[in-house]
Amino acid sequence: MKVLVTGAAGFIGSHLAEKLSQRGDEVVGLDNFNDYYDPRRKRANQRRLERYPNFCMVEADIRDRQGMFDLFAREQFDAVAHLAAMAGVRNAVAHPDLYVEVDYIGTQHLMDAARAAGVGNFVFASTSSVYGDTKQIPFVESDSCDRPLQPYAAAKRAAEILGYTYHHLFGLNFTAVRFFTVYGPNGRPDMMAYLVADSITKGVEIPLYEGGEMYRDWTFVDDITNGVVAAVDRPLGYEVINLGRGELVRLGDFVSIMESLAGRKARLRPAPKLAADVLRTYADIGKARALLDYNPQISVEEGVTRFWEWYRDNVGA
Ligand SMILES: NC(=O)c1ccc[n+]([C@@H]2O[C@H](COP(=O)([O-])OP(=O)(O)OC[C@H]3O[C@@H](n4cnc5c(N)ncnc54)[C@H](O)[C@@H]3O)[C@@H](O)[C@H]2O)c1
Repeated sequence: MKVLVTGAAGFIGSHLAEKLSQRGDEVVGLDNFNDYYDPRRKRANQRRLERYPNFCMVEADIRDRQGMFDLFAREQFDAVAHLAAMAGVRNAVAHPDLYVEVDYIGTQHLMDAARAAGVGNFVFASTSSVYGDTKQIPFVESDSCDRPLQPYAAAKRAAEILGYTYHHLFGLNFTAVRFFTVYGPNGRPDMMAYLVADSITKGVEIPLYEGGEMYRDWTFVDDITNGVVAAVDRPLGYEVINLGRGELVRLGDFVSIMESLAGRKARLRPAPKLAADVLRTYADIGKARALLDYNPQISVEEGVTRFWEWYRDNVGA
């Protein structure tokens, strides 16, 4: 199978592209290597992926509509896993135009190019952020998700909805997979797991929101990529599916696990929750189990251990 993985130089995209390459798919990665965080990390991911003879990277921007059409006409993809995005929740508050252009318009370009080229399956990386401050706990896909708290979530939700339109009008198979707080080796440096490790090792002071009384459904990156591969393999018409672990973990407890692995404390400054943030994320994963045979394996204790060992050996403790 020939698969386009957008955002392949990024955190989750590089893990996904590696998994597909390892199983023998022909994989084309696409990324614009932007500097939202240090692009040298993305180049390192590219080098890791280019060890696979069945992988190649295209440097391109999904906002380039004609470029996307030309790529799809040239390559004849069987499936698309669309992970390229501006992904920072807080950064989105300051740059709404950018988030709408990349996460909504860019996604529309890809859907258009995919249906013009007759691509069999389009998998879209969405987010638990679309649930906003919902009162339906755990988060379930039947929730209307029409109260996003920042432009990132609004653009992702809009793209999910447009996916339905493309399915309805053009028969595009479209599955939106909503990721819940993903962490693991090569993790994003602006996310909590990485910030905690930086704080422990470098003494950087970081905010601890709500005295640690925030809850996240932390999901290890391997579990997420297993779910995405299952979605790539199964055209489902139109579906929206949560990919989380299905477990609420207190932020304070997550920090403590890493502190005890390191044998040192993080430098935490108490801070109130930001308006762009939610108090908790918690996935109902029944639909993913039923439709994708999704079965997350990595407990938070094991995942944080794997993340910490990677950080210690590669970033430095
Ligand atoms: N990490 C999480 O916890 C999480 C949670 C929910 C959803 N997601 C979604 O998963 C996907 C991957 O996230 P990630 O954490 O790996 O982030 P990431 O920033 O590491 O990866 C995104 C990649 O997309 C690329 N990109 C951005 N704009 C582009 C453009 N205009 N054209 C081409 N490439 C572009 C970036 O250079 C980057 O390499 C995103 O769609 C994100 O919204 C992530």
